[in-house]
Amino acid sequence: MNVDMPDASPMRPNLFSAFRVRDLRLSNRIVLSPMCQYSAVDGLPNAWHQAHYGARMIGGVGLLMLESTAVSAVGRITHGCLGLWNDEHAKALGRLVGTAHELSVPIGVQLNHAGRKGSVQVPWRGGKALQACDDPWPVVAPSALEQSEGFPMPREITRDGIAAVVDQFAAAAARAVQAGFDVVELHVAHGYLLHQFISPLSNRREDAYGGDFEGRVRIVLETVEAVRSVLPAGFPLFVRLSCSDGASDGWGVDEAVRLAVAMRERGVDLVDCTSGGIAAALTRTPGVAFNAEAASRVRTEGGISTGTVGGIVGIDQAQAVLASGQADILFLGRALLSDPFWTLRARRMLNAGDVPAQYLRATF
Ligand SMILES: Cc1cc2nc3c(=O)[nH]c(=O)nc-3n(C[C@H](O)[C@H](O)[C@H](O)COP(=O)(O)O)c2cc1C
Repeated sequence: MNVDMPDASPMRPNLFSAFRVRDLRLSNRIVLSPMCQYSAVDGLPNAWHQAHYGARMIGGVGLLMLESTAVSAVGRITHGCLGLWNDEHAKALGRLVGTAHELSVPIGVQLNHAGRKGSVQVPWRGGKALQACDDPWPVVAPSALEQSEGFPMPREITRDGIAAVVDQFAAAAARAVQAGFDVVELHVAHGYLLHQFISPLSNRREDAYGGDFEGRVRIVLETVEAVRSVLPAGFPLFVRLSCSDGASDGWGVDEAVRLAVAMRERGVDLVDCTSGGIAAALTRTPGVAFNAEAASRVRTEGGISTGTVGGIVGIDQAQAVLASGQADILFLGRALLSDPFWTLRARRMLNAGDVPAQYLRATF
């Protein structure tokens, strides 16, 4: 057994207890949730990424998960997305990894293909389909169904196209290892290509990659197998999974549990449980820690470690979610976007150790 399994210890973890997954040790349970910065050029990081991620490294997160990073140029959401589809990307991201390691912070990368949610403007320019003058690209999806009005109409991806996407995920994962990353996370959530396959709302295929549960999850399991085969034995593999589409005829938590079991059997170490994203009209359940219940079911019924994300803002809230045993680690998004030093404040508040010496006089 190479992961901390559910309930391995009678002691409930707290925010600052260590977490082991394969050969990686996180010194605390707070993870920077992947958040697109839409600031790359040709898929390459720049000063923004160094500074933005650098602040969260100094801020003491247990693991820093880089934003959605495209496995191919046409797998990007926007022109501003990071990429890992060539060696130049690996080299540039390797510099960010070097900074993280110099500061003793583990760093992961979230690999993604946007499918029908790609070829759009960055959110602050409207987030809608790129026009002819904006250098758009043709998008693919399991079926020729658009995300919603204002998004590009996708072409149904061919069998060869599916095989190519699986290979691109594996090639990007191999580059992630080469760049020195500590974790790879596959994005099977928020309405992007792999989620488009598992959801019956977006997958109407009649071939082996659609239809029943086995058909819809096939590409995900093939991707997991291909990616796992290029990762060293001690290297952790996470999957960010939308556990519900929020619609009675959509993907749901029962299927998420089944998929988690199949992924665990193929070498996935942790499911980062989230929800929603397949259709603009479907909103996520609001409230505190709104994906914790799904994480709990995946953890107990799927027999796999989980992370949860969504609606965790306060230090007490975060501590309570962890103490409840619903998830092993917490991904914080907007809380860490507005406050890179959230973890340092928590460390002070919970008497869980010192802040960096340079910041001893700070008024967290
Ligand atoms: C600016 C921004 C960018 C995001 N980009 C990504 C992303 O690249 N990948 C992803 O899985 N989720 C992304 N998300 C979702 C967050 O990771 C997180 O799941 C969501 O914000 C809910 O968590 P929170 O309530 O802690 O913010 C993004 C969210 C924000 C606010």
